[in-house]
Amino acid sequence: MGNKAEGVKMRQAASRRAGALARHLVIKDESTGKEHKIKVSEGNTFKASDLKPLGIRTYDPGYTNTAAVKSSISYIDGGKGILRYRGYPIEELAEGASYLDVAHLVLYGELPNQRQSDDWERLVMQNAVIPKGVEQAVASLPPNAHPMSALVVGLTSLGSFYPEANPAFQGSGVYKSNVVQDQQIARIIGNAPAIAAAAYHLRTGKKLPQPKQGLSYAENFLYMLDSNGDVNYRPHPKLSKALDVLFLLHAEHEMNCSTAACRHLASSGVDVFTAVGGAVGALYGPLHGGANEAVLRMLERIGSVQNIPGFLQSVKDKKEKLFGFGHRVYKNFDPRAKIIRKIVDEVFDITGKDPLIEVAEALMNAALNDDYFAKRKLYPNVDFFSGLIYRAMGFPPEFFTCLFAVPRLAGYLAHWRESLVDPDTKILRPQQDYQGVWLRHYVPVERRAANQQQLFGPIPLTNEEKRQQRGSFAG
Ligand SMILES: CC(C)(COP(=O)(O)OP(=O)(O)OC[C@H]1O[C@@H](n2cnc3c(N)ncnc32)[C@H](O)[C@@H]1OP(=O)(O)O)[C@@H](O)C(=O)NCCC(=O)NCCS
Repeated sequence: MGNKAEGVKMRQAASRRAGALARHLVIKDESTGKEHKIKVSEGNTFKASDLKPLGIRTYDPGYTNTAAVKSSISYIDGGKGILRYRGYPIEELAEGASYLDVAHLVLYGELPNQRQSDDWERLVMQNAVIPKGVEQAVASLPPNAHPMSALVVGLTSLGSFYPEANPAFQGSGVYKSNVVQDQQIARIIGNAPAIAAAAYHLRTGKKLPQPKQGLSYAENFLYMLDSNGDVNYRPHPKLSKALDVLFLLHAEHEMNCSTAACRHLASSGVDVFTAVGGAVGALYGPLHGGANEAVLRMLERIGSVQNIPGFLQSVKDKKEKLFGFGHRVYKNFDPRAKIIRKIVDEVFDITGKDPLIEVAEALMNAALNDDYFAKRKLYPNVDFFSGLIYRAMGFPPEFFTCLFAVPRLAGYLAHWRESLVDPDTKILRPQQDYQGVWLRHYVPVERRAANQQQLFGPIPLTNEEKRQQRGSFAG
């Protein structure tokens, strides 16, 4: 569906909602005795700006109860453990679809027919070779750079190669063209595996192979990691299929931290490469996409089943976090975790069983049967088992989040595209509740107290810095 048509649909839905039987909240201000009627929309939201006349604002740290956008891309019912992309249950998509077809669904609203699927795959593959400069930008990082930081460098530098599609040069109207939008989408989805592979090869020191036509998206990704330039190389079909399903499960997840970051950046009108680069930066954090790496490191630290009770006790004492558990939205099993648990065994059939699976299962069962977690409705999330698959497939833990970021780009781009036609899109600019000093007057430096407390540092010097400081530049 064209993006303009989607915009019209959104406006029609908004006016249908406006025509539905109105529901109101009545707020009484006890200080004045005045009552204010506030309209509640079909989505059980009211406009925060309707509170303005009352001189009241909402304070919602962490946005736990604030809808910042209207979206038609994915739907989550956290209580029931439901996730749907464009209306399709995630379980059905994982069973039958390929990642690229699901990316098409997420981005454009429909699963493609065979011809559309072939055209889409061709378009993505035509864009699979990264510019030399992006490869060099990534290669210039130290070999032990975190692959996620390399991915951010690669994605943001990619935008430098397309000044004709940069609103800073061309004005904000440049993204009104569907052709320009689709071109940037194909560039980002097409280039992402090669950028991630370049990040991977920082560590291996190997040359990044050219992508190969005729392979699926996940196959091509594995090919760029493992072929060592041999065009006859083929990844194991079951491993590439498992990775393809994992990609599909990670493609989209409504207004999570990184997608919100993408929409936030995009709202300023910045180029889409910077917007998705910033989103990937947000994904890197251990409370978000970085949790798959954190889970694995946690399981390695726990080491064996007998250490679980002690570990859980330190979680309950708030000294530790049980990574891979808990979610802002899911207060039940994350449906993706259930699907991933099944894939674990399929992968182990090929790679051999990872003994940490026993620790993971025992840890999960112990937590599920513990009051602390039950009371707080903490269940395994998408990251709990994915790290074990990635480890069994031989990926180093620091690469795990790249395996989340590459497929999630479809979701970021779908939100970017949606934001371009959303009539409610505005620059995102939350307010603050100012708590600082009310007013004071400037004092020149010579009149400031000599005994003012030092407010920064001290930062301990390295021996190298101490040695440098012992020298002098005097002639
Ligand atoms: C995902 C996450 C950030 C959601 O955070 P949130 O919605 O802000 O929830 P809160 O941090 O307010 O948690 C509510 C309560 O559960 C506890 N809790 C939440 N997740 C927990 C976890 N993984 N381990 C231990 N306790 C946890 C909190 O300490 C808090 O307890 P309290 O009421 O005694 O203060 C959080 O669950 C978390 O840090 N999980 C681990 C990281 C992870 O796996 N992230 C991937 C998400 S897909």
